[in-house]
Amino acid sequence: MPDITLTTLNKLKQSGEKFACLTAYDALFAHLESSAGVELLLIGDSLGMVLQGHDSTLPVTVEDMEYHTRAVKRGNQGALIMSDLPFMSCATLDRALDASTRLMQAGAHVVKLEGAGWLADTIGVLTRNGIPVCAHLGLTPQTVNVTGGYKVQGREDDKARELLADAIALAEAGAALLLLECVPSALAAEITRSVNVPVIGIGAGPDTDGQMLVVHDMLGLSFNGRMAKFVKNFMTGQPDIQSALRAYVAAVKAIEFPTAEHEF
Ligand code: KIV
Ligand code: NA
Repeated sequence: MPDITLTTLNKLKQSGEKFACLTAYDALFAHLESSAGVELLLIGDSLGMVLQGHDSTLPVTVEDMEYHTRAVKRGNQGALIMSDLPFMSCATLDRALDASTRLMQAGAHVVKLEGAGWLADTIGVLTRNGIPVCAHLGLTPQTVNVTGGYKVQGREDDKARELLADAIALAEAGAALLLLECVPSALAAEITRSVNVPVIGIGAGPDTDGQMLVVHDMLGLSFNGRMAKFVKNFMTGQPDIQSALRAYVAAVKAIEFPTAEHEF
C-alpha cells in the first residue's frame, strides 16, 4: 500500500485541506515529486504529446502506459499512483477490464478514464473488481476530433447542468475520484460541493479538493514557449527543480494557486 490512499484523500476533502497532484512519467520525477509532498502522481496520456512529440494523445497505447507506470512505481515514495486509460481502451467493457488489469499490475492504484455518464456501468464493474476509477470530465483530449478543439467546457447553462448531472451520476456509480479539466471555477466549485468523493481540478479554479498540473508545464518547459492560461511556472525564483516542486505543494496547500489569472 502507498502512504497516501484514497482514504487519505477522502479525509483531506472532509477537513478542507487541499492536496497536490502532478503528472509523472519516469522514476526520477516520481521520486522527486513524491519526496516533495505531492500526494498523487498521474501517468497521463499527455505523455504522447510531452514525451513522444505527437500532436494529440490518440497514438498512446496501453503498452506505453504500462511502461511508464512501471517506471513511476519504481521511483515513487508513498504517493498514490494513477494511470490513464488511453484512447479507445474503454470502447467496450472487455477492453476496459483488460487495459485496467494491465495498468494495475504495472503499479497503478487508480485508473483514470475520459468520459461522461455513459461510462457509469464500466466504472461500476471495475470498482466491484477492485479497481478504483477516476472519471475525467470537462475537456477530454481523447475526443478532440469530435469536440473540435481544446476549449473550456461547461460555459453554457445547459452544458453546465449536463456536466453537474454526469459528475453526480459517476460518483453514484462508484467513481472514487473526479477530475475536472478546463471548466469555469463556479461550476467546479458546485460539483465539488455536490459529490462526496474528492474532486481534482486542472484549469478549474481554486475550489476543487485537489490541484493537478502537467509537471513540464509547471517547470516552464514547452515546445513553443507558450503556456495555457491555467498554468503557473513554479521555477520562477527557485534555484532547482526540487524547490519548484515544494513551492507548488506549498502554494496548493495555502490556496495561493490557482488565482484569478489562472481561472475560467
Ligand atoms: O494526461 C494528462 O496529463 C491528464 C491531465 C492533464 C489531467 O489527463
Ligand atoms: Na490524460
